[in-house]
Amino acid sequence: MESAQLDIEFKKHFGGETDKLLEVRAPGRVNLIGEHTDYNDGFVFPMAIERDTAIVFRRRKDQLVRMVSASQPGEPAEFAFSHEVSKGPPLWSLYARGVAEALRQKNLITTGIDALVAANVPLGGGLSSSASFEVATALALLTASQTTMDRVDMALACQWAEHHYPGMPCGIMDQFISALAQKGHAMLLDCRDRSFKQVPLNDPAVRVAVVNSNVKHELVGGEYKQRRQQCEAAVAALAQKQPGVKALRDATMPMLDQAKAAMDSVVYRRARHVIGENQRALDFAAALEAHDYSACGRLLYASHVSLRDDYQVSCPELDTLVELARSVEGVFGARMTGGGFGGCIVVLLQHQAFEPLSKLLHSEYPKRYQKQPAMFGTLPGPGARVVRD
Ligand code: GLA
Repeated sequence: MESAQLDIEFKKHFGGETDKLLEVRAPGRVNLIGEHTDYNDGFVFPMAIERDTAIVFRRRKDQLVRMVSASQPGEPAEFAFSHEVSKGPPLWSLYARGVAEALRQKNLITTGIDALVAANVPLGGGLSSSASFEVATALALLTASQTTMDRVDMALACQWAEHHYPGMPCGIMDQFISALAQKGHAMLLDCRDRSFKQVPLNDPAVRVAVVNSNVKHELVGGEYKQRRQQCEAAVAALAQKQPGVKALRDATMPMLDQAKAAMDSVVYRRARHVIGENQRALDFAAALEAHDYSACGRLLYASHVSLRDDYQVSCPELDTLVELARSVEGVFGARMTGGGFGGCIVVLLQHQAFEPLSKLLHSEYPKRYQKQPAMFGTLPGPGARVVRD
C-alpha cells in the first residue's frame, strides 16, 4: 500500500491529523538456499524481497500500543509495556507484543504508539511475513522513542519474541535478513558467529521468481520443532565418537556414516540433509559470485530433492511446481523455500524464461490442484528502514 493510502486507513481508525505520522517498513525474504540449517549453526543464503510490512504510526503520551491490521480485520490490539507485556488476543498481535517485551527488558522504549500495520508479504506463504512484522514493530517502537539499536541485536530481539510469544522455535535467518538486507544483494550468513557477506545479485540477464503454491503452512505446529529435536538427537549420537561436534555444522558426511549405527534411520536422513545443505549454501554463493548460474541451478534442484526425501518438509504441490519449472527452457533451477509444508518455491532463471514459466504454471498447476499459483519476480530489496520520521 502506498503511504498516502496508509494515512487514510490510519485516520479511519485513529482519527486526528495525518501530518505527524511516521512510517517504517521491513521486508519479507526468500531463502535462495541453506534450508533448515540456521538452527544447526550453519549457513543460509537469503535475500530480502520487494514486499514488506509497513507500519504507519503516531506517538502517544503513555506506554500503550494500539495497533490495527489492514489485513486482519477486527478491533485494534491494545497492550501496555509499562510492565511485562501480556499475551492477550488477537493472535497476530503476539508478534508485536513479544517485540515490545524484548525491547522493554532492555530499557530501550519509553513511548507508546497508535499504529496501522499493512503487509503485502503473503501471510503464511513461507516468505517471513512474521519476521517482517516483528522487525517493523521493533523499528517503529525504537523510532517513537527516538532511539536506535544495533541491527544484529534487533534481529535477536525479534527472534526472542517469536520463541516466547507465538511460541515458534525459529532460527535467526528471517529476522536477520529483514533487519540487515542490502538492496541488490543476497546475504551469505554464518548462523554460528553471525558474520555475513553481502553478495551482489543484480545481473540483468537473470531473475529470481517466487511461486506461491497457495498451500498455507503452519510452522508453530509440531513438525518444525520435531525437526529441531531430530537434529539434536543426531548431534548427541555424533558427539559420542567426535566430542568436537557441538552442532550439525561441525559434522561431515564421513563422520555421519561412522555414527550411522548409533542413530535412528530418520535421524540419519535429517542429518544428511543438513550436512549436505550447508555445503550447498557455500557452493551456491561461490557459483553466484562466479556468475555460474547453471551450477547454481543444479544446487537448487539438489536442495529440493534433499528437503523432499531426507528432511521430508516438502508437499506434492511444491514438488509439482519444481518439476514444472524444470521443464522450461532457460530455468537454471528451482526448489521449495522456507520452512516447508506449503508456501513457495524459488526459481533462478534467464530473464526471457519468466513469461513461458508463468504461462505453464498457470495452465498446468490448476489442473492438478484446482487452484492457481501466484508468481512474482523480485530483485533483492533493502532491509528495514524508517521511511518517515
Ligand atoms: C523458518 C524459520 C527459519 C528457518 C527456516 C528453514 O522460516 O523461521 O529460522 O529455520 O524455516 O530454513
